[in-house]
Amino acid sequence: MSPFTVTRLLPSDDTTAALHADVRRGLGATPKSLPPKWFYDARGSLLFEQITELPTYYATRAERDLLSTRAGDIAEATGARTLIELGSGSSSKTRLLLDALPHLHTYIPVDVSESALRDAGTVLARERPALTVQALIADFTNRLTLPPAPGPRIVALLGSTIGNLMPVQRAAFYALVRELLEPGDTLLLGVDLVKSEDVLVAAYADQAVTGQFNANVLRVLNRELNADFDLDAFEHVALWDARRAWIEMRLRSRLAQTVKIPALDMAVSFAEGEDLLTEISAKFTVPGLASELRCAGLDLARWFCAPAQLVGLALATPVRSLHDCLHATGRSTACIR
Ligand code: AVJ
Repeated sequence: MSPFTVTRLLPSDDTTAALHADVRRGLGATPKSLPPKWFYDARGSLLFEQITELPTYYATRAERDLLSTRAGDIAEATGARTLIELGSGSSSKTRLLLDALPHLHTYIPVDVSESALRDAGTVLARERPALTVQALIADFTNRLTLPPAPGPRIVALLGSTIGNLMPVQRAAFYALVRELLEPGDTLLLGVDLVKSEDVLVAAYADQAVTGQFNANVLRVLNRELNADFDLDAFEHVALWDARRAWIEMRLRSRLAQTVKIPALDMAVSFAEGEDLLTEISAKFTVPGLASELRCAGLDLARWFCAPAQLVGLALATPVRSLHDCLHATGRSTACIR
């Protein structure tokens, strides 16, 4: 067996505190919103797996195909000896990369789910006896302290997870990654691309699976906070915001109602037709992505794109200094939003 360790960087009671804070803030605000990370209890994770098999949900399939055809190019471009995967989950797509990286010494999966890390790590350690696997239980949107591992390193965020972040959160994420990257290291980012509204909306509109996935966040609140959301009293809505280039998933209250959340000592009133924003899923263009990376001191070094421009994979490398960054863009104001 290869060395397989799991290290907890996240205190286990942090999750509860974070849920309380997010719900208090999100349901107390106007308009109401909840962060998408709370979809993913065991049932929500299963529903997401089912989404990835829907004919209309192209993103997972397209990225898997792209990874398998481009893994060799990624290996060659990076020469990676360490792969750090943020939000690794079941590590299923990672296998394509692992198999293509001939010099790989260490794999560091990072996830908030200890069970996902243990399951994936145990299988990998058996399959890849020469690989060192150092799993980290951590929230990658916070600053990470990584164990020492040989360079060059890839920091990977796949599956268009980046799309769930609001622009300011994205900027904060790039800044954290930029801090982690040493010269020679690479960020590997999987993004979904702007395309026709019909295709985008169809990927999120299905009621049977995606609707259940959307409403699952209410089940989580009912269970974890003893809330009394009536799931049938909300409608699943998916819409495309062209100006901000993102899909929004919302839960629309079918009637005027008040929901009790005893664990937070809260009562939340919804008007008829009032929306609760549960997820944004941002879609990218290549120039847009290059420019936001550049603003964080990252250079879009290579770009791989799936047939029909469905999704893309970006390789980004650290720019030497902020001065170089501003100089290279030629417009320092490009970075101010
Ligand atoms: C897992 C964040 C990539 O935004 O497409 C799928 C989640 N939500 N259907 C996405 C999701 C509705 C998904 N990500």
